Formats: sequence, structure tokens, C-alpha cells
Amino acid sequence: MAEPLWSGRLGQGMSETLQRLSVSVPYDQRLYREDIACSRAHLQALERAGVVTHQEREQLDAALDALRQEMDAGTFSWDESLEDVHSNIERALIARLGDVAKKLHTGRSRNDQVATDTRLFLRAAIDEILAQVYRLRAVLIQRAREEAATVFPGFTHLQSAQPVTFGHHLLAYEAMLTRDCGRLRDCRARLNQCPLGAGALAGNTYGLDRQLTSSLLGFASPMENSLDAVADRDYILEFLSAASVVMVHLSRLGEEVVLWMTPAFGLITLPDELTTGSSIMPQKKNPDMAELVRAKSGRVFGALVTLLTVMKGQPLAYNRDNQEDKEPLFDTIDTLLLVLPATQAIAASLCVNRERAIELAAAGFATATDLADHLVRGGMPFREAHERVGGLVRACLDKGCTLEQLTCHDMEQALGIVDDQMAHVVTLSGSLQARDHLGGTAPSQVHAAAEKAELRLQRERNPGATAQDTPPCG
Ligand code: ARG
Repeated sequence: MAEPLWSGRLGQGMSETLQRLSVSVPYDQRLYREDIACSRAHLQALERAGVVTHQEREQLDAALDALRQEMDAGTFSWDESLEDVHSNIERALIARLGDVAKKLHTGRSRNDQVATDTRLFLRAAIDEILAQVYRLRAVLIQRAREEAATVFPGFTHLQSAQPVTFGHHLLAYEAMLTRDCGRLRDCRARLNQCPLGAGALAGNTYGLDRQLTSSLLGFASPMENSLDAVADRDYILEFLSAASVVMVHLSRLGEEVVLWMTPAFGLITLPDELTTGSSIMPQKKNPDMAELVRAKSGRVFGALVTLLTVMKGQPLAYNRDNQEDKEPLFDTIDTLLLVLPATQAIAASLCVNRERAIELAAAGFATATDLADHLVRGGMPFREAHERVGGLVRACLDKGCTLEQLTCHDMEQALGIVDDQMAHVVTLSGSLQARDHLGGTAPSQVHAAAEKAELRLQRERNPGATAQDTPPCG
């Protein structure tokens, strides 16, 4: 078993039981690139402070680079008895370079180190996740254009409500994901501060240039309070919250895909490669992928609750509790990067069964509101119109027909009034076209909304291209 970094004070090695509890190498080795980048920046500050010479820094820098290459290649042998990624790297350097490597940890602690590493790691992960959400939005916009005029049933309470266009439905998800991107970018901007120099908790005594390390690592600025720098994990909490909302949105789409595909709805089909069969029932074609998109939300919410609980009530500053931030963080990043491409594939390839969609869109007298609105335009108070159309629906139920199948005579009898526009008003296309306003479901509005969404997405993908930043709510 390797000597721990604190063997000077504690002669006895750690008990095996404690070691098993303590070890984080199996998962925190994922931070090695960030940890090495962090050490290289720290070395520059040490040189500037006169703690290491230029030559020593270069020597250490080259050894760190060699270590990184070994780790990239998977040939580095990690030692679990050294607890974490930081100790493994420091010990390996000492083993290779001897005394000069013992200077590396001057003026820093694993506390400011790990906070810096996770900020760097999360910053890059958010960029990757954002790229995937942008891609999903692009798919939704493209599909919305194709399906701008596709009639689709609109539900409230999962009961027939009013007809919509499928493109409009897809753009609802695009709008949700646009806000998700805003939340992720906000989180990225807030986490982009550098803890280095905070030391264990109170700062360092070497006059390390904190601006230097911060800018070398691409942070906007050093963190302003050393206790805060090592103690808080709110940047991870914020990410897990934003990720949870993304998962809420994806789970709703996943659920809708499952429902739409069930024969009772029969609204869509998915290509075979996005479905699975059954080991016993030969006829089955199951939407497992959409179900998993829906279910993966559970682990992301779990990660958020885990870390909220870990952080709650901790006295300042760093406590070992904070080590428990990593698995929820990594798992959430991995989950999003798994689920987002799956959702892109589903959205890109689902195929609407148009006849069935029309049938369900018309079912349940879904254009009844349109008729009431028409009576209102003729001067009738809405409550009165609502009442009369309610009577008409009852008449349809008695006759076993739809609103569209009613004769002028039936209309006149139930409504006390009839005109030659009513027959059109109660059609699906009449209903859709009537909602021709900003945010409405009319096909022309879907085209306009898709256009707008496309421009917004381009601006977000290329923030440099315009001076004005995208408003958080799009
Ligand atoms: N593995 C530790 C963590 O993730 C690194 C910091 C350890 N600091 C300490 N004082 N024991 O939090």
C-alpha cells in the first residue's frame, strides 16, 4: 500500500475499512486532464512567486504532460490506495522527478484543486450538452416545418380538446429546450470563476497571482472569497437543476411517443431500428427507446436530491462530504449525453399516421369551441354561446354524429341560429386557420415560428455573430 500524502503526521496507514470508504480514484480519475491543467497553471504562479525556478517549472510541466499522455493512452497505473486523482498524480510526479516534484503542492490544497477541476470539467461538459440540445432543437424545427399543416389531436386532461398542427406541437418542445439552453448557459457563466489560490480555506501565503491562474485556465475571474471557493458546490447543484428540467421535458416527449405509438392512439410509427421486440410475444414492436428517455429522468432527479442533501447543513468550509458531488455530476452528464442523441433520433424519424391523426383530432367534438367563438363574433355573449353549443353536442351524441355531419336544420334547432359559415367553422382546417396569430397553431404561424426559432438557434450557436445576447426566455 502506498504512503498517503499526510504520512508525516499519522504514522499508521489507513485501515482497510476506511480506505474502502475513502477511495474516489475509480470515478474521479475522470478529472485527470483538468487536474493536470490546473497543476500547470499553478506552476506558473509558483514560478512568478519565486517558489520554483523557470527550469524546475519546465521540468515539472513536461512530466505532467507525459503523465497526461499515459493517462490518455490508458497505460498509467492508478493506485487506489492513494485515494484520489490528485494524490495519484502528485505521487507519480514525485516517483519520477524526486525532490523537485515535492514543490508542486506549495500554496494549494486538494480543496481548491478539486473545486477548480470540477468547474473546468463541468464547463466543458455543459458545452457538449448544449451542442446536443441545439442539435435536438434543429431536428424539431426541421420536423415542424415538414409537419406545419399536419392535423393532430390536441389534448387537455388527455381528453380531446382542440385540433392542433403537429408542427406546432413539436415547436412547443423546441421552446422548452430553448429555455433549457438559457439555464445551462447561465449556469456556465456563473461557474466560470477560479478557486485556485484559496488553498485549504483561508488563502495562501505565497502571494500567488490568482489573476494569472484564472486566466490561464480560461476563467472569467478568480473567486472572491477563499472559504466560498472551497466550500460551495452550488455550480453543480445549479447544473443538476437545469439538467433535471431538461429531463422533465424529454420525459414528457418520451411519454407522448409511447402513447402516440400504442395502437389505441395509433398516431405515429417509429422505424424498426428505434424499437425492440419481445422475447415471448412475436408480434411486439415496443418503444423501449422512448421509455428509457422517459425513465432516465429518475436518476437525474436523484442526483439533484443527493447533492442537495450532501450540501445541506455543512459547516464552512470544505468537508469531505463534498467528495460525494462527483458521482451524481458524472452520472448526470453521461445520462444527458446518452438521452439527447436518442431523442434526436426519435424526433427525426417518427412518422405521423395522418388519417388516424385527423380521426382523433375530430373526435370528441374538438371544434365545439370554434362554433361558440363564431356565435360570439355574431354578437352572442360567450357564456350563452357555450351553453347553446353544449346543447348541440348533446344533440350530436343523441344522433350519434359529429359536428361536421349535422344538417343546417339540426344547427338551427339547437343553436337557434344558423349561417352559411358554420359548416366551415366546425371543420378541422377551419379551426386551425382561425388561430392565425403569434403563438397560434395555424400552419402559417408554424412556418413563421419555425423561421424565428431557426434564427434564434443560429444566434445561440454563434453568439459572436451578433452583439446582442439572446434573452433567457428566447
Ligand atoms: N477527493 C477529495 C474530494 O473530492 C479531494 C479533496 C480532499 N481534501 C481533503 N481535505 N481531504 O473532495
